[in-house]
Amino acid sequence: MIPQPLADTHDVVFDVEHITLRFGGVVSLNDVSMQMRRGEILAVIGPNGAGKTSLFNVLTGVYTPQEGRVLLRGRPGDSPVSVIGKKTHVINRLGVARTFQNIRLFPALTAIENVKVAVETRQKAGPLAAMLGMPWQRKEERDSTAAAYALMRDVGLGERGNELASSLAYGEQRRLEIARALGTNPGVLLLDEPAAGTNPQEKRELAELISRINRERNISVLLIEHDMKLVMSVADRIIVLNFGGKIAEGTPEEIQRNPAVVAAYLGTSAEDAARQATDQPELHLIDTQLEPPPTDEERSGD
Ligand SMILES: Nc1ncnc2c1ncn2[C@@H]1O[C@H](COP(=O)(O)OP(=O)(O)OP(=O)(O)O)[C@@H](O)[C@H]1O
Ligand SMILES: [Mg+2]
Repeated sequence: MIPQPLADTHDVVFDVEHITLRFGGVVSLNDVSMQMRRGEILAVIGPNGAGKTSLFNVLTGVYTPQEGRVLLRGRPGDSPVSVIGKKTHVINRLGVARTFQNIRLFPALTAIENVKVAVETRQKAGPLAAMLGMPWQRKEERDSTAAAYALMRDVGLGERGNELASSLAYGEQRRLEIARALGTNPGVLLLDEPAAGTNPQEKRELAELISRINRERNISVLLIEHDMKLVMSVADRIIVLNFGGKIAEGTPEEIQRNPAVVAAYLGTSAEDAARQATDQPELHLIDTQLEPPPTDEERSGD
C-alpha cells in the first residue's frame, strides 16, 4: 500500500489562488490567495471598500475574476471543483450558502415560507408533481415544513413562522436569513455582516448562534464582520483585506497585535500605529468603539 501523506488536502474548503478582480479602473481584489480549512470559523475583516463582499461574490459565482483560481470542496469528502464560471445556484448545490450585507428575504412571504423555499431546492419533486399533488410530493411538503420549523427554532425564531418576513424586527430578519441559508444543507456558510444594525444583546446571541452552527452542524463559516468584539470572540482565524489586497492573516491575538492591521483601521502608517499602541494601549485596535452604529441609510445599502 502507498503511504498517505500526512497533510490532508481534503481539509481545505476553499482554495483561492492569486485572485484579481477589476471593475474598469477599480481593483476590488488584488492578487488575493487564501485557504479556508474544514470546520473553522474564518473571519474576513478590513475597512469599508477593502474587497470583503467582492471576495464573497467571487466565491459564490456572482463575479468572475480576471485572474486566479478558486477550488471548492463544499461538503466533507467532496472532490475539488473549480468555482470560476459556475452559476451561483450550482455553487449553492455544491454546498455553499450565504447571507447578504443588505438583507435579501422575500418580504411578502411568511418567515417559514422563506425557509421552505430553500429546503425545497434540495428536494426531488418538480412543479408538475406539486401541481398534481402526487403522494411523494405531499410527503416532501410535510418534510420540508418540518425541516423549516426545526431551523426556525434553531435560530430562535420558533414563534415567528407565520409572520411576514418584512414584519420581523431587523435582528430577526438577519437570523431568518441564516435559517434560510441552512435550509440548503450547506457544508460552508458565508455570512456578510450578520451583526450589522443589531443591538448588543442580539450580537451576543448571534455570536452564540454562529459558534453553535459551526460546532453542532459541522459547518465551516466564513464571516465578514465589522464588530471586532464579535469577530474576536468567534473566529479561529482572521484574514485582513485593505484596498483589495490581503495584508494579514492569523489568530485573533496575532491580528490584534499586527501594526499593519491597526494602521489600516486608523488610517495611519504602521509605525505610527505601533507607537500609538504602546503609548495609548486603550486606543489600540480596531476597538468596537471605532465602529459607530450604522445609520438607517447604511442599513439599507449594500
Ligand atoms: N459591481 C461593482 N462595480 C464596480 N465596482 C465595484 C463593484 N463591486 C465592488 N466594487 C468596488 O470594489 C471595491 C470593494 O468593494 P466591496 O463591496 O468588496 O468592499 P467591502 O470590503 O465589502 O466594503 P464594506 O465594508 O463597505 O461592505 C470598492 O471600491 C467597490 O466600489
Ligand atoms: Mg461589504
